Amino acid sequence: MLSRKATCKSHGQDSSYFLGWQEYEKNPHDDVLNPSGIIQMGLAENQLSFDLLESWLAKNPEATMFAKNNVNGGSIFRELALFQDYHGLQIFKNELVEYMSEIRQNKVRFDPKKLVLTAGSTSANETLMFCLAEPGEAFLIPTPYYPGFDRDLKWRTGVEIVPIHCSSSNGFRITNSAIENAYEEALNLNLKVKGIFITNPSNPLGTTMNQKEFNILIRFAMLKKLHIVSDEIYAGTVFHPKKFISIIQAIKTLKLENSDIWTRFHIVSSLSKDLGLPGFRIGLIYSNDETLIAAATKMSSFGLISSQTQYLLSKLLGDKKFTKIYVRENRKRLEKRQKMLVLGLKEFGIQCLKSNAGLFCWIDMRNLLDSDTFEAELKLWKKILYEVGLNICPGSSCHCSQPGWFRVCFANMSEETLNLSIHRMRAFVYSIGHNQAYTSNVNLMN
Ligand SMILES: Cc1ncc(COP(=O)(O)O)c(C=O)c1O
Repeated sequence: MLSRKATCKSHGQDSSYFLGWQEYEKNPHDDVLNPSGIIQMGLAENQLSFDLLESWLAKNPEATMFAKNNVNGGSIFRELALFQDYHGLQIFKNELVEYMSEIRQNKVRFDPKKLVLTAGSTSANETLMFCLAEPGEAFLIPTPYYPGFDRDLKWRTGVEIVPIHCSSSNGFRITNSAIENAYEEALNLNLKVKGIFITNPSNPLGTTMNQKEFNILIRFAMLKKLHIVSDEIYAGTVFHPKKFISIIQAIKTLKLENSDIWTRFHIVSSLSKDLGLPGFRIGLIYSNDETLIAAATKMSSFGLISSQTQYLLSKLLGDKKFTKIYVRENRKRLEKRQKMLVLGLKEFGIQCLKSNAGLFCWIDMRNLLDSDTFEAELKLWKKILYEVGLNICPGSSCHCSQPGWFRVCFANMSEETLNLSIHRMRAFVYSIGHNQAYTSNVNLMN
């Protein structure tokens, strides 16, 4: 009785990424109430800097109480309650572009007229697919990639994803041949390729792209007349921001501002990761293509950010002294956590890919597999979920082409819980007798 869209399987809800969450919900760890429960390490959430946000809120109560902070006082309640323009609050967009520059070290400036507000990056990514491709056309995406893309990019739009297979042999970097092979594969499948979709910094790798990769990517996109979508949702999590190159900088470095690629790259971002506010649903699309911005703005009616949230965040982001301190402190805390996990695992022979951003590590457990297969990976994942009590994310759910890699999140729990999870892993590894450090690709590891 339901539509094909409502009943089709391409949502990806049955992937191990979502199944792990369901198992966690049935038996969640709690220090006091359920100490042997499952620890959620499959959720890229940042809870490390809530104290900073909460102390700002305590000092700025007018931001949540609708008070107008002008000399006449009064309330902004009616204005916000009635506001329904899908262009968004101008003051919020102005502050948002300033913040985007700030987390990119002010090396690039953004124009608020080229910005579309959306309910999180989820909505931004889907809106872009609606605007850039017809059903049945394809985007090439480097693997491994965020499991949610199967839902966000494909499900309702009918757009296809063709993987660019990246390999551990070079730290999962994009190469010319990997892009060319993916393009050929799409043609063999009779799919018209409309663009390349990158995530920088990468989820699940926690790495940032270098200029060499950008050169390959941008040249290929120019040659084949493709769009480039760059999901930069993790830009504010880079531990040492000088290392981060946004696509906009990469294109400027190549002096391509006057070429046609200038209107064919599009940035997606949100405040879900660096500010740790996924519940507030604050996302955006940034593009130099005016027609795209006009279309996406109209489409944003289907996923707007509440005016109350826009108002609150315009106050918070407008406090430049606060955002500077927050961004710096948050990066420091994330790096400290990442080191805790990397060093903790290394002690009993589990290596992580060398990373410099994100809320997770990409860990190598190939030496714990029974065989070099995805069946063995799933078997190990189930053991870790049910016997060890950790919900981590198997590489296969991120479409990794090599079995044995897992994404492990470290920023959604307390230090004590992270220590407990490392302790559980140590006990597990020793119980199966694998305590030798894995030695291959050591230069790519933390
Ligand atoms: C790469 C990437 N893009 C988009 C999203 C969705 O983010 P949002 O909460 O802003 O919708 C996520 C969430 O994990 C992500 O990792």
